[in-house]
Amino acid sequence: MAKKKILVTGGCGYIGGHTIVDLIENGFDVICVDDLSKGSLRMLHGVEKIVGKTVKNYKVNLCDLEDTEAIFIENPDIVGVVHFAAYKSVPESVREPLKYFRNNINSLVNVLQCAKEYGVQNFVFSSSCSVYGNADELPVNEEAKLKEPESPYARTKQMGEAICADFCVPNKKFNVVLLRYFNPVGAHMSATIGELQEVPENLVPVITQTAIGKRKDMQVYGSDYPTRDGSCVRDYIHVMDIANAHTKALQYMLDGKNTEHCEVFNLGTGQGVTVLELIAAFEKVSGQKLNYKIGARRPGDVVAVYANNNKAATKLGWETKYDLDQMMDTAWRWELYLKREAEKIQLN
Ligand code: WQD
Repeated sequence: MAKKKILVTGGCGYIGGHTIVDLIENGFDVICVDDLSKGSLRMLHGVEKIVGKTVKNYKVNLCDLEDTEAIFIENPDIVGVVHFAAYKSVPESVREPLKYFRNNINSLVNVLQCAKEYGVQNFVFSSSCSVYGNADELPVNEEAKLKEPESPYARTKQMGEAICADFCVPNKKFNVVLLRYFNPVGAHMSATIGELQEVPENLVPVITQTAIGKRKDMQVYGSDYPTRDGSCVRDYIHVMDIANAHTKALQYMLDGKNTEHCEVFNLGTGQGVTVLELIAAFEKVSGQKLNYKIGARRPGDVVAVYANNNKAATKLGWETKYDLDQMMDTAWRWELYLKREAEKIQLN
């Protein structure tokens, strides 16, 4: 029987690339569309080393409807779309809100329109725990009231979810799963793919770049929060656990098991970890003493957020397989891999 073909948008990005690995390893055929404005073909080269096959990328800006449509015309056998393509820097979105609304919303609308026109009925949308803002109750479950988003980035995720939900109302055959990621970290166990950010803002790549000497030092943004050690609490989850949830979500819809046309799931471990606890785990796993200072709070940070992940466990049959030490180990091994690759380039 022919393999089911999935279109992954933004597949040259961090979570997109890891999801392509999981989809292929679970028997799907995958094509990618990525305009490479943020992602890199280096991700697909790493994916190909892991899965042993090439993955075609369409270098297309999904804000261009005609170019987007051409992909669906060329691939009439697409049975599902996983939509990652979006800008995701919180500080950049505050500086340039219109760039974020234009890119993140127009691309989503175009892909949904093409899915409808070309009979693709299964759609996974990459959302974020940032839609919860400062949740009133922890762990946060999917029924929690969404708060005012902390950034235009988070607002594009709230709007994206609403657009998907509204789209399902008249399109009765269309199925959507919204996946709200908590804090994706780490890298594939092979350490040949991982997060590629020259100047990261997220905690874990800042830690690994500090430890390897790419950065002189780093700051812990605040140690006076009302938490067990004063630093913020997050739900860090391994990127391969996030990836597998996308495969499970597609299988859930393709098997007709979804009970509603638009369903939302939290993707977290259910455990809250403080910044200082994560640093301690990194130092233990890597054997590196981290050079950090305690600095001022970062505007826009929520004090604590972590998931109630029971719904994804029971309905998708999804469970997390990686613990905090493995998250830190793979993140560190990926940073070491990048250093070796950079040294090879210098030698040539
Ligand atoms: C985590 C904690 C910082 C850097 C992320 C993504 C966002 C969305 C949700 C996907 C905070 C602290 C950080 C540093 C620090 N993801 N920190 N020093 O803010 O939870 O948001 O997850 O949709 O796009 O950004 O993640 O890694 O930036 O911060 O102390 O140098 O680490 O204050 O408490 P955040 P983060």
